[in-house]
Amino acid sequence: MNIRLVKGMGLLWSSLFLLPSSWAATASISIAQLYQGSFLVGTAIKSSDLKKPPSLSSSLSCREFNAFTAENAMKWEHIHPTPDTYDFSMSDQLITMAQQCDAKVIGHTLVWHQQTPDWVFQDSQGNALSRDALLVRLKDHIDTVVGRYKGKVYGWDVVNEALNEDGTLRDTPWRNIIGDDYFIYAYRYARAADPDAQLYYNDFNLYKKAKVEGAITLVNQLLEAGEKVDAIGMQGHYSLFYPSLNEIEQSVQAIVNAGLSIAVTELDVSVLPLPDDAFSGADITQSFAAHPVYDPYTSRLPEAQEQQLAETYQGLFALFLKYADNVDRITFWGASDADSWRNNWPIRGRTDYPLLFDRQGRPKLAYQYVTQFIP
Ligand code: G3I
Repeated sequence: MNIRLVKGMGLLWSSLFLLPSSWAATASISIAQLYQGSFLVGTAIKSSDLKKPPSLSSSLSCREFNAFTAENAMKWEHIHPTPDTYDFSMSDQLITMAQQCDAKVIGHTLVWHQQTPDWVFQDSQGNALSRDALLVRLKDHIDTVVGRYKGKVYGWDVVNEALNEDGTLRDTPWRNIIGDDYFIYAYRYARAADPDAQLYYNDFNLYKKAKVEGAITLVNQLLEAGEKVDAIGMQGHYSLFYPSLNEIEQSVQAIVNAGLSIAVTELDVSVLPLPDDAFSGADITQSFAAHPVYDPYTSRLPEAQEQQLAETYQGLFALFLKYADNVDRITFWGASDADSWRNNWPIRGRTDYPLLFDRQGRPKLAYQYVTQFIP
């Protein structure tokens, strides 16, 4: 059976719920092929897969997904570690791998307050750079990185996580030195370096009303300034316990109502309890001490939670399909549970199960639910 989902085909979605469960046994197409015509389905590629011959994870990525984001390899500290050094070894490998797998490449990320070396904001004596000097440095970085991959990268997360939880602009060295208009320059330089690449604003916790409104305001400022932004990247670091589908849908509607498109850029669903609501985002500066109570599934995930995870993913995909006209891509933040950053945040060394494939790379119940929509 060959199923092709077409943007906005709500009826087809309904009929998918009626598919026989035996379809699983005969299905041989990937999740990306299944959703072809609705949106791209991507994964993050971890750096270790870009340093050595293809591993289980990279072949799994190649088989199942049609968009690859470098989980870390294109971040400033890796690709431009010192003022005079660029290291393209892993990012070049990502491009090669994507070409071999017929996948699009998503560039992540050009402007972020994390994983950016201190020297970026300093002169050779260690003093803070002037606005003009930092703009020159930003332009050089974007020209060099985006320019190298002109025509090879489908879209860039240009500015990442520039907002506080209340939707106001986050204080970062970029903002403090350049001023509130720093992001306008970032998008201007990116478009100049590759006019055909898609450009995104990317952030976490956009299911929160104030934060998504902040993102819409930021993008509207860019558009009013004459810059190009193709979509808001909703990262999608979720959990079994939050957010509700309704919260996500409210945010999706707010973005759609503003006339903007959506890319779900970093999807995963943690099954583990959080020590505090304050850890509901993806702020990697936060951490919490390990305790067995927060790591309850070290040997296996019980059936009840496996089922809950599958239903959560099914609900998310139903929602994304409902808005498929405005959703360009769903990217998972990793392929197998073994790869996920969620095993180490906000508590290091936990055993989480947030993705569609288990630690051996085998499809989980959640994979079946999003590929077969078992009623
Ligand atoms: O590779 C080194 C390893 O050699 C070393 O032994 C180990 C010691 O801690 O660190 C390893 O590097 C870690 C790297 O992940 C690879 O695992 C870094 O410490 C760690 O900081 C880094 O974390 C990444 C994080 O961003 C910070 O860049 C995560 O992998 C990555 O999943 C995460 O991704 C972010 C997105 O870019 C933006 N949105 C939120 C998302 C989750 O935090």
